[in-house]
Amino acid sequence: MDYDSSQVYQPEADTYLLLDAARGEVRPGDRVLEVGTGSGLIAAAMRKGARTIATDINPHAAIAAQKAGVDVIRCNLLDPIRGKFDLVLFNPPYLPTEPHERIDDWLEYALDGGKTGRATLERFAADVKRVLAPGGRILILISSLTGPGEVKELFATHGLQAELIREERVEDEILLVLRFTR
Ligand SMILES: C[S@@+](CC[C@H](N)C(=O)[O-])C[C@H]1O[C@@H](n2cnc3c(N)ncnc32)[C@H](O)[C@@H]1O
Repeated sequence: MDYDSSQVYQPEADTYLLLDAARGEVRPGDRVLEVGTGSGLIAAAMRKGARTIATDINPHAAIAAQKAGVDVIRCNLLDPIRGKFDLVLFNPPYLPTEPHERIDDWLEYALDGGKTGRATLERFAADVKRVLAPGGRILILISSLTGPGEVKELFATHGLQAELIREERVEDEILLVLRFTR
């Protein structure tokens, strides 16, 4: 099947920061789920030591990730996922976006975090414990623009506690990886 690579989020500094954190976190035999896999770079790297599946809502990303060797399901967040995972990874759309700034294409799904930057994360946080194995960990990439304090509070309301495990300045933004556990 063919796809349009211009409609797939290509690896950037945020991708590489989450990849580095995930490499430090994954343990042999872990069941890994990457939500919103985009090009599939992170999930493909996880596959080397752990059973890994991935999701993406964007059909172009789903094909790109499949071509990168990833078992990918095209779906909305975790909707059809029924298994339990030891490690869940998500580099979500995290940029605050006003309605008039929206662009009507698939790449918009990679970037548009709604007015607060947390719209997709709110839906993810409300559902993620359902697929988390006992002792499971969640790594989330966000930016200083997403409101790190609000993100921590959001997950805390769902019984998940945050720890900052990576931080990197990229121009006017700081990228952060938060690790959540029960
Ligand atoms: C910032 S990009 C990250 C892509 C890749 N994981 C990386 O780090 O390069 C966010 C990805 O999440 C996907 N996404 C956004 N909303 C989604 C949803 N509701 N369900 C599944 N995937 C979603 C986008 O299509 C996009 O591929």
